[in-house]
Amino acid sequence: MLKVGLVGIGFMGRGHLDNYLRFEEEGFPVKLVAVCDIDPDKFKNIFVKGNIDVGTGTYDFSKYNLYTDMDEMLANEELDYVDIALPTYLHAEATIKALNKGLHVLCEKPMAMNSAECQAMIDAAKANDRKLMIGQCLRFWPAYEYLKETVQSKRLGDVVCAYFFRGGEPPRWSYENWLLTKEKSGGCLLDQHIHDVDTINWLFGMPDKVSTIATNIIPGSGYDAVSTNYIYNDGKVINAQDDWTLEGDFGFDMTFRVNFEKGNLILAKGVLTENPDDGQGFQPDLCPDLGYYREMKYFANSILENKPIEIAAPESTRDTIRIAEAELESADKKGVLVAIK
Ligand SMILES: NC(=O)c1ccc[n+]([C@@H]2O[C@H](COP(=O)([O-])OP(=O)(O)OC[C@H]3O[C@@H](n4cnc5c(N)ncnc54)[C@H](O)[C@@H]3O)[C@@H](O)[C@H]2O)c1
Repeated sequence: MLKVGLVGIGFMGRGHLDNYLRFEEEGFPVKLVAVCDIDPDKFKNIFVKGNIDVGTGTYDFSKYNLYTDMDEMLANEELDYVDIALPTYLHAEATIKALNKGLHVLCEKPMAMNSAECQAMIDAAKANDRKLMIGQCLRFWPAYEYLKETVQSKRLGDVVCAYFFRGGEPPRWSYENWLLTKEKSGGCLLDQHIHDVDTINWLFGMPDKVSTIATNIIPGSGYDAVSTNYIYNDGKVINAQDDWTLEGDFGFDMTFRVNFEKGNLILAKGVLTENPDDGQGFQPDLCPDLGYYREMKYFANSILENKPIEIAAPESTRDTIRIAEAELESADKKGVLVAIK
């Protein structure tokens, strides 16, 4: 039985908490024993609602050892791994602390504020011989897994053109408004758009160059809407957009349109459709579980079975941050092509 400490019980931490409750119900050998959050109101079930339905319940926190300080949790608990759902500006520090205590770490995306921090996290994992994985959940999301398999197997031929989008209303729920503070979140480019950057890296590998146009609307938040062209040597056309200023009844959406030589895959309003060039379109059967559940289970299994983290290896999620850094530089220079460093 793996013993876990969850740090950060905000919007995403509650999504993780729901999955630990589900693991318990299913008899999966992972037990959440400690929860840490700087804001003790959270332990009284006082929350602000986020943009995706991840964890809306009322929780029985009396089941867990509760802490408002991560150092105290690490000093007092015997854990196997720490699950970090803290704001991004705390990811590197908290991850390295837990690794140096000899614990494995699952940390939320984006990996960190920059690639130097990511490298320090990887170095700490190596020095302590512990596992480190970043919750780039689309690598475990059934519709995106289907896309990955289609790209890899070349069942529909090579990719000709691909477009990825995500967006919704501004994230107004966060602790001390960190999400809408450029220095703490990196704006929508590093926080939200990073999912599509990571998907593009996972599907196609590192682009040679990027060109990004981005704009700021909300004071102090960094870029709020972004569009990037990813330049690959073979000439395929790859673009991703994000906009977290979509108000009104828009809600939240993530979509893609990937055109192959022999057909296309479309994700729209949560439904994946495959349209072969020579036949009827259809909706593939997909696993109903969300990527969050599947990524958490994958991480726990990698410890239980002592297997390497391959699907979201930390070096790969660090490279995603390297692409995002080039995008930020290009956006600051009004879209000039920037090579990935
Ligand atoms: N995978 C996804 O789809 C997804 C979606 C949303 C958020 N996230 C990620 O999850 C992480 C958390 O985001 P969120 O939306 O839950 O933010 P949030 O502000 O709702 O939650 C952060 C929590 O951390 C707590 N906290 C802040 N400083 C702390 C400290 N020093 N010690 C202990 N607790 C502290 C806050 O009180 C809060 O409860 C971010 O990295 C974000 O990018 C991922």
